[in-house]
Amino acid sequence: MISVSPIEEIKARLDIAEVVGEYVPLKQAGPERLRARCPFHSERTPSFMVSRDRQIYHCFGCGEGGDVISFVQKMEGLEFPDALRLLAKKANVELPSYDPKLQSERASILEALRLAGSFFHEYLLHAKAAEPARTYLVETRALTADTLEQFQLGYAPDAWDGLLNALRKRKISDAHLVAAGLAVRREKGSGMYDRFRNRIMFPIRDAHGTIIGFGGRAMDANEPAKYINTPQTMVYNKSAVLYGLDQAKAAIRQEKVAVVVEGYMDCIASHQAGVKHVVASSGTALTDGQVHLLKRFAPAVALSFDMDPAGETAAKRGVAVAWREGLDVQVVSLPFGKDPDECIRKDPKAWAEAIAQRQPILDFYFSRTLNQRDPEKVEDKKAAAKILLPVLTMVADPIEQTHYLQKLGQWLQVDEQILRRKLASSTPGQHSAPATATPAPVMDRTERICQQILGLLQLEPDAIPSIAKDLPAEAFPPGVWRDLYKFFLNQYSSEHNPSPATWAQAAGERDASLADALAVANLAVTSFTRASSVERHREIEAAVRALLRVWVDQEMAKITPALHAAEARHDTAVMQELTTQFTALTQQLRRL
Ligand code: UTP
Ligand code: MN
Repeated sequence: MISVSPIEEIKARLDIAEVVGEYVPLKQAGPERLRARCPFHSERTPSFMVSRDRQIYHCFGCGEGGDVISFVQKMEGLEFPDALRLLAKKANVELPSYDPKLQSERASILEALRLAGSFFHEYLLHAKAAEPARTYLVETRALTADTLEQFQLGYAPDAWDGLLNALRKRKISDAHLVAAGLAVRREKGSGMYDRFRNRIMFPIRDAHGTIIGFGGRAMDANEPAKYINTPQTMVYNKSAVLYGLDQAKAAIRQEKVAVVVEGYMDCIASHQAGVKHVVASSGTALTDGQVHLLKRFAPAVALSFDMDPAGETAAKRGVAVAWREGLDVQVVSLPFGKDPDECIRKDPKAWAEAIAQRQPILDFYFSRTLNQRDPEKVEDKKAAAKILLPVLTMVADPIEQTHYLQKLGQWLQVDEQILRRKLASSTPGQHSAPATATPAPVMDRTERICQQILGLLQLEPDAIPSIAKDLPAEAFPPGVWRDLYKFFLNQYSSEHNPSPATWAQAAGERDASLADALAVANLAVTSFTRASSVERHREIEAAVRALLRVWVDQEMAKITPALHAAEARHDTAVMQELTTQFTALTQQLRRL
């Protein structure tokens, strides 16, 4: 018997035309071709083709295309293994069981999370000790019983072992409690304790409603950490999660836009008010992973981030990512209230109204920037151009870009061609230092840390050899900061008597961008020129730890999809290898 992989078997048994036909009406367009209106973008004339002989689909309008598995993935918003499982059922193909050990590792983590979700929820609803939490949610935050149910809100008891005892009774092992992020091992001695204590619990679910982590809000106002979230685990990757997506996805499809808010409470309040195409980013700028996820459900995002300066940066950060992926980006401006939750509690209609009135983000930036400036004043003109041109460099669509360039040209009374030239020169090179301007500059946190480290090492070159032991060059993102760090290592060892004063010339001889980076890093630490050496060393160590944490986090985030893929291929060797790597990284992260 010829052995074929289950993937090939599934594809052989299913006809793509039949599967696609279950989602969109197909018309014959040739002996082996069918045609439809594309389900992935809106169009009047059908440019979506399905080829029977090649078993693929392709849209000439939006460029989407692939095989039957990727079609179902996209249509249903599924990860590859889940789409495979769905199609396996349809094709009557039995997927061979996975490596039982790893399979059970994941399953046990998910089971621990599921039980924890029920435990916290029951505890909130019924425990005497949860009375203040209930009062807080129902009275202060005005949540209904239905909402508590729908989002399965919970409460973690004010004890070191509340969840621990409950889950041990349900035969969940200590190792799995730790792997699920629910319990923390004591640093000294043995034993462990609950990660979440005296907190309102928000289960974080994936698009299918499976609990993969938790956010916990402090009940005690004096608690320094307002929220604690599940750390990176085998099933939870914080940068690829959108809170509330399981509840919101149908409405997002229907409304053709996803409204993104910052907080768990904002998302919940909106759903309670009947506005259901809303998810929460959990306080960060939109990440690649989140944008990727959203793209499966709608062609546009509407950001409603707090409009404090930090919120504005966050919005902007998400924007570049979303544009790169071809999403339309809009802005929802709150009429009042510090966040959507406050606005909704005062007047739910005002929130729906604000969403209806959302603006394309460029219009928003334009009116913000131009309204408070006078086109008669040359200073104001320069300031406006300095703020808006860098934003326009991020616009991928040339028609859109031209439209706004002309608009800016009119306001400035400057010829569009001049702006174009300026645009070309203000194109942020991959690593050029960001322009300073209000709306806060786009400065990636990682970039800031890199500059900090490289600036401080210029002030304290003697720290280089000891730092070199802990900090591999790969921890720096590829590009000029990594190059500069390598240059430092090199200079230090080749000179013995390192004098950064001479490095500028050496760097310049090698590469102008290296000399630039050297100067930028230097400027980034001017506040430390008067600090003591001890203070600088302390700062270097903190920054190195921060960079390592970001790096380890990223490495872990890379493993999760690779693990999924290996799982789908039933490649147990690779799965073992990746799991080992993951565990090692978890340990490293704990030490940082
Ligand atoms: P906010 O501080 O705006 O909180 O953080 P909130 O959601 O409005 O909460 P309430 O209304 O005070 O109860 C917004 C989001 O940022 C994340 C959480 O996801 C939070 O919902 N966050 C905030 C953290 O992860 N950690 C923090 O310490 C704070
Ligand atoms: Mn809030």
